[in-house]
Amino acid sequence: MFTSDTLADQTILITGGGSGLGLAMAKKFASLGSNIAICGRTEEKLQKAVEEIEEVSSDSTAKYYVADVRNYDRIEEMIGEIVSDFGNMTGLVNNAAGNFLSASEDLSPGGFKAVVDIVLHGSFNCTHVFGNYLIDEDRKGNILNMVTTYSEDTGSAFVLPSACGKAGVLAMTRSLAYEWATYDIRLNAIAPGPFPTKGAWERLVPDESAEQKFLSKIPAGRYGDKEELANLATFLMSDMAPYITGECVVIDGGERLSAGQFNFIDKLGSREELKGFFKMMHKKEG
Ligand code: HXC
Repeated sequence: MFTSDTLADQTILITGGGSGLGLAMAKKFASLGSNIAICGRTEEKLQKAVEEIEEVSSDSTAKYYVADVRNYDRIEEMIGEIVSDFGNMTGLVNNAAGNFLSASEDLSPGGFKAVVDIVLHGSFNCTHVFGNYLIDEDRKGNILNMVTTYSEDTGSAFVLPSACGKAGVLAMTRSLAYEWATYDIRLNAIAPGPFPTKGAWERLVPDESAEQKFLSKIPAGRYGDKEELANLATFLMSDMAPYITGECVVIDGGERLSAGQFNFIDKLGSREELKGFFKMMHKKEG
């Protein structure tokens, strides 16, 4: 589906690109011809990530920028540096996030603010600066926002700041997709289900039994693979999807559907046992 030039002539900034899903997207984009800029707070981590990104592609250049997405002035300065280093910037992935488990009654205002600042204000800051650059330069561009499966309908217990922040990011995606379509700027979102990354797992999965419960909610019977998410991100960031904007694509192996009223029956036995049981019920009815 993709070729080595699918993302040629692009320069994409991935916030929080030093690890996890951000790094996986950076490597995929680089392997398909895009120049890569990553930013984050920890220089050592970013340095190592750039080495990994450069290993997958000899044609594209990768650079890192130490920047906290919460700092608007620094983001403005960084996007100026990216444009000067690469000649332009064509895409942005708002991937940087913060999250932790907490009973909401125990959250401090500072804890709530820290997460919402990273997730919502950070995404706004990068989007606002990048959008203005594109509009001023009369260039088309692409913005991809990483949200979650709990951004839209359900919210989620024990991660209140993240649920609030990500819902805001989804609203921003749709609002600006309409408002900025006239400038040829597309905005889309990806809502990943459980993808085991160190950053998320350390903070969100307390122990082995929680991990098993998590897994049991996914009808696909497995976690997502980073490569699968990177493929979806590539498609949305590429010229293969010029008419898709304001969309949120869920990639979760069906996890969001686990509330279906009779889904639990699947857990009562093997498929063959269940089929036998259903036949018996049918006979009784007759
Ligand atoms: C309660 C906590 C806390 C915790 C921090 N705080 N951790 N409160 N439980 N576990 C509170 C602090 O006490 C402080 O409150 C305030 O939050 C700010 O904390 P700092 O450590 O000073 O902030 P900072 O260094 O900016 O760190 C931000 C952070 C941290 C969000 C708290 O966890 C972080 O940097 N995370 C980045 C990486 C990350 O979270 N990755 C996971 C994303 S996964 P006071 O009151 O003292 O000010 C994800 C996927 C979702 O989002 C989907 C999953 C399936």
